[in-house]
Amino acid sequence: MEVIIQPNLEAASAVAASVVARLLREKPNAVLGLPTGNTPLLLYRELVRLNLDWSKVTTFNLDEYVGLPPEHPASYHSFMRHELFAHINLPANQAHVPDGMAEDIPSVCRRYEAQIRACGGIDLQILGIGADGHIGFNEPTSSLASRTRIKTLTSETRRANARFFGSEAEVPHHVITMGIGTILDTRQVLLLAFGQDKARAVAEAVEGPVTAMNPASALQMHPSAGFLLDETAASELCKTEYYRWVYDNKPDWQKG
Ligand code: GLP
Repeated sequence: MEVIIQPNLEAASAVAASVVARLLREKPNAVLGLPTGNTPLLLYRELVRLNLDWSKVTTFNLDEYVGLPPEHPASYHSFMRHELFAHINLPANQAHVPDGMAEDIPSVCRRYEAQIRACGGIDLQILGIGADGHIGFNEPTSSLASRTRIKTLTSETRRANARFFGSEAEVPHHVITMGIGTILDTRQVLLLAFGQDKARAVAEAVEGPVTAMNPASALQMHPSAGFLLDETAASELCKTEYYRWVYDNKPDWQKG
C-alpha cells in the first residue's frame, strides 16, 4: 500500500488528476471507477481544466440511492452530470451509474458486474472514504467479498449525507453499491481523504487489522492501492515519516 501525504487538498487533488491524466494518455480507452461526495470535487474540476480526451473512456460509478430519479438534485446521476460529465467529451453511453429506479434491483446489480467484466475490468478506481471507513456505500460489517448489490445505510451515513437533501428524513435508506470484492478486482485503487474527520478511519484502514468494521482496510489486500491524503487526514497515522521518505525517494520509473 502506498501512502502519499500532500500539504492540502488542492495539492492532493492535483496529484490525483495527474494520475488520471497519465492513464488516459497511455490508455485512451481506459475504464475508470468514480466516486461522489465532496472529496473528489477538486479532482473533477482539475480534470475538466486539463481538457483531456474522454471519447474512448468508460466510467462506472460506485453507487446510487435506491428510489431517487436521475434528475433528483441529490442523486449521484445528477452529481456526476454537474461535476464532470457535462464538461467533458465522454459519450453518454460510456458513463455508467447504477440504476436506483430499477424494479428488479438484483438483476441490475448482476448486469452492472457483467458490464464491468465486458469492458475488461476497471483500470483505475478512485475512492473517497466515510468517517467510519466505508467505501462506496459498503458500510461497516459489509462482506469483504461482496459484489454490486443493495445495501441499507447506517444512521451515521444518512446523517452525514443529509447535507445533500432537505433533511435527514429525505435520505433514502437503501442504495446500490459496488461491493468490496468488486473494488478489490480493479487494477489500481486511489483513495482520497481530506480533513480531520477522516483521520481515524484512514489510520485504521492503513495501519490497523483487515476488518469488515473498517471496509477500507480491505484495500490492504489490493496489490496496487494508494491513499492520497492531506496533512489532517494523515494526522493519526504512525508511520508518516516512512511514507514521506518512500514517496520523496521513488525511482523515476515508479513516479506517477
Ligand atoms: C458517501 C459516498 C462515498 C463517499 C463518502 C464520503 O457515502 N457513497 O463514496 O466516499 O460519502 O463523502 P465525502 O467525500 O463527502 O466526505
